[in-house]
Amino acid sequence: MVTRQLPRARDLRPLLQFKKPILDPTERRLATALTIEDLRVIARRRTPRAAFDYTEGAAEQEISLARARQAFQDIEFHPAILRDVSRVGTGWEVLGQRVALPFGIAPTGFTRMMQTEGESAGAAAAAAAGIPFCLSTMGTTSIEAVRAAAGPAGRTWFQLYMWKERERSMALVDRAAAAGYDTLLVTVDVPVAGARLRDRRNGFTIPPQLTARTVLDAIPRPAWWVNFLTTEPLTFASLSSSSGTVAELIDTMFDPTVTYEDLGWIRDQWPGKLVVKGVQSVDDACRLARAGVDAIVLSNHGGRQLDRAPVPFHLLPQVVAEVGSDLEVHLDTGIMSGADIVAAVALGARFTLIGRAYLYGLMAGGRRGVDRTIEILRTDIERTMRLLGVCSLEELRPAHVTQLQRLGPIARSTTPDPHVLR
Ligand SMILES: Cc1cc2nc3c(=O)[nH]c(=O)nc-3n(C[C@H](O)[C@H](O)[C@H](O)COP(=O)(O)O)c2cc1C
Repeated sequence: MVTRQLPRARDLRPLLQFKKPILDPTERRLATALTIEDLRVIARRRTPRAAFDYTEGAAEQEISLARARQAFQDIEFHPAILRDVSRVGTGWEVLGQRVALPFGIAPTGFTRMMQTEGESAGAAAAAAAGIPFCLSTMGTTSIEAVRAAAGPAGRTWFQLYMWKERERSMALVDRAAAAGYDTLLVTVDVPVAGARLRDRRNGFTIPPQLTARTVLDAIPRPAWWVNFLTTEPLTFASLSSSSGTVAELIDTMFDPTVTYEDLGWIRDQWPGKLVVKGVQSVDDACRLARAGVDAIVLSNHGGRQLDRAPVPFHLLPQVVAEVGSDLEVHLDTGIMSGADIVAAVALGARFTLIGRAYLYGLMAGGRRGVDRTIEILRTDIERTMRLLGVCSLEELRPAHVTQLQRLGPIARSTTPDPHVLR
């Protein structure tokens, strides 16, 4: 028999703990995001469809991206128990300098369209976290302004697309060297534009055009439009003029004749570390090791170029076995959590890059949103390492991860978008 009593004030008091309300709306919004997927949902709510789809979308049927994300889902971790994991270190050296975390911010074009703070937010957040920020040739903030945003301690890399007008591309490389960028990433997986069908269906152009549809779309997203219309005009920082679709721009400007021989020519003009991004086979990795580059990025460009390309995470073990002692192997495409990064490091990646995970944060809350992305990934990495029983990145081993064979169908990379399926 339970004896009942009237609740007493002294028993109730500890139960009634009201949290101090977060008054700042951006802080409040970001505090609800516990995962990168949460940031994605907020980003989608706040960003006009054409800009969000440009960021989120991939090429053709978007199978490359779906498979890359699925590959991370399809692993099994193997922890060791009874280890002292009270202290855990997430840093090591990447291309000759210390990084605080095993990931950096990938180069992305047209970034101020996602949110007006754009590359400056990314560079400042990366510098504060002790990780590199990579500026794209197609960036919307100048080489020098990104350097200033990163501050003297921030580490910046420059990504090169070789244009048909090679002297103009190399003039950018000279500017990056003069400004203090330490690493040049040459992206090699865009001889022509991938078929980004979402952009075609949305009638997406650069600069974005105001049509009846975009005006309607603006109604529930006033903050984006206020930012867009009241800040510096959105333009490519390194191109003098451009308009049309992204595919038209790429196919007009980019040089499809670039070969291995040209890499040597670029190497001779660049004083810092040289990285090739977009490597998708063991053969090419071996050839680049012989060419003497400092690192390669296994990447299929976030699935935005060749659809049904190899999943970089699947290539990783064999590439590391072949060239891991000659150069650093980096990886991107599909990273949506810190556990994905831990798995990549365990299989031999020295470093990883995040594209959309960074842009979701940016769209969700500008600079503070990028801080939130980094914080979520940092927390994931530390927790996963502790749960695996390791205290440092050096202790991560291939034995910590197995890649399971997939039996069922691959889920779509993202929540089905009726617009795409239409
Ligand atoms: C919106 C967007 C723009 C991009 N622009 C560039 C670019 O200008 N240069 C480049 O080398 N890669 C570019 N990428 C590819 C990224 O550098 C990176 O390889 C890719 O985003 C990694 O996949 P993830 O988005 O799944 O992390 C872009 C990716 C996105 C999502």
